[in-house]
Amino acid sequence: MSESKLVVHGGKRLAGEVSVSGGKNSVVAILPAALLCEDVCHIENLPAIKDVAVLKAMLEALGANVQWQGSTMRIDARTLNSYSAPDALVRKMRASYYLMGALVSRFGRAEVAMPGGCDIGSRPIDYHIKGFEALGITVENVRGVYVCSADTITGSEIYLDNSSVGATINIMLASVRAQGITTIVNAAKEPHIVDVASFLNSMGARIKGAGTDTIRIMGVDRLHGCTYSIVPDQIETGTWMAIAAATRGDITIRNCIPYHMEAVSAKLMEMGFDVREGMDYLRVIDRQRPRPVRIRTQRYPGVPTDLQQIFTVLLCLAQGTSIVVETIYEARYKYIDELRRMGANIRVQDRMAVVDGVEGLWGNQVNATDLRAGAALVVAGLVADGVTTINRADYIDRGYDAIDVKLRALGADVQRIEQ
Ligand code: EPU
Repeated sequence: MSESKLVVHGGKRLAGEVSVSGGKNSVVAILPAALLCEDVCHIENLPAIKDVAVLKAMLEALGANVQWQGSTMRIDARTLNSYSAPDALVRKMRASYYLMGALVSRFGRAEVAMPGGCDIGSRPIDYHIKGFEALGITVENVRGVYVCSADTITGSEIYLDNSSVGATINIMLASVRAQGITTIVNAAKEPHIVDVASFLNSMGARIKGAGTDTIRIMGVDRLHGCTYSIVPDQIETGTWMAIAAATRGDITIRNCIPYHMEAVSAKLMEMGFDVREGMDYLRVIDRQRPRPVRIRTQRYPGVPTDLQQIFTVLLCLAQGTSIVVETIYEARYKYIDELRRMGANIRVQDRMAVVDGVEGLWGNQVNATDLRAGAALVVAGLVADGVTTINRADYIDRGYDAIDVKLRALGADVQRIEQ
């Protein structure tokens, strides 16, 4: 993967319209899910992000025939001939774990190395494994490779200790063709859970309750191909909302689902921003320096952890002291050292960040430590006085489709330098 830098000349007020791409956390599950049928799927509204490129290579390595044109991908899984995912690709992304559920369901066997992904804290997959075992799937860790095998996958009632997004989706993938009924209790409710269930239902699955905390999956013998459009990205939407607010801008965010953003909109309004919504758009207008607030990241429908870093940048500019509590990942504060280089005044105590608002930030050389940290540094660069160079901006490309191009269309001065 080539490394790139973003060079941002800050201080511009961003205004205009931006269109949100398809959801990263949906597509990274839907592409492996397409392997569940011996047929052809057409996936639309596909974001052009690095995780999709890695998954395309992974699907091809497993024998699928994949064509990616613009925002559409055609996946022919009839030719799939391997249940062993290539290590080098698996290590490039967290969502590789979805291949475990998809391949074991298709072949009765899956071999997938321990997944990679952003370093934002401990990310075990014990709930996935517990769920698989309840379905009659044996999971062994053989020299760092999870080997999953089952003669028959049998529906079961699975209680998740923590409503994990990954475990909820992986259990859906593994159980969709099981014998009998699977019930996931304390399931995650994020928009991408609903999206993956809708995709599977479009393939002939029988899943009910996605979006609530109890999901029932009635196993079916076989699935068929379909055409499906990915839901707009909730986190990208929230990022544009924060960018409008931070740059004292006026941005209309098209192709989004305002309903998914209610906690975020409420928080922005509490900070004093003007948030207007229509059926499929949001408009955020800044009028003044933000008011300080308390933010506690929570599962959907709360304020998502994936926006914690980006919203902390906004709070750096507030008139007073804000409190941020990160409840999901213990190491999602690594970017704060980088923000301090830009003049932010933040103290971290365990999972709490105390943010004392400052008049402004200044540009500097900073490092993106993970995907959302990178996006947060872009927001900081946009408001900073002077030039900000964000190293390892390729992290941002894992989850944001052409962020620099979209920013320039809104009036930002952002250049990409490939290394
Ligand atoms: N957890 C366990 N055991 C498990 C699974 C999770 O202890 O078996 C814990 C984790 O350690 C963490 C918490 O539960 O503390 C959340 O984990 P979850 O399974 O919900 O998250 P994930 O599937 O690893 C997905 C997204 C993340 C997003 C989280 C929370 C994908 C590929 N990733 O991760 O996205 O932060 O849900 O919403 O869907 C991002 O987009 O930047 C990102 C990191």
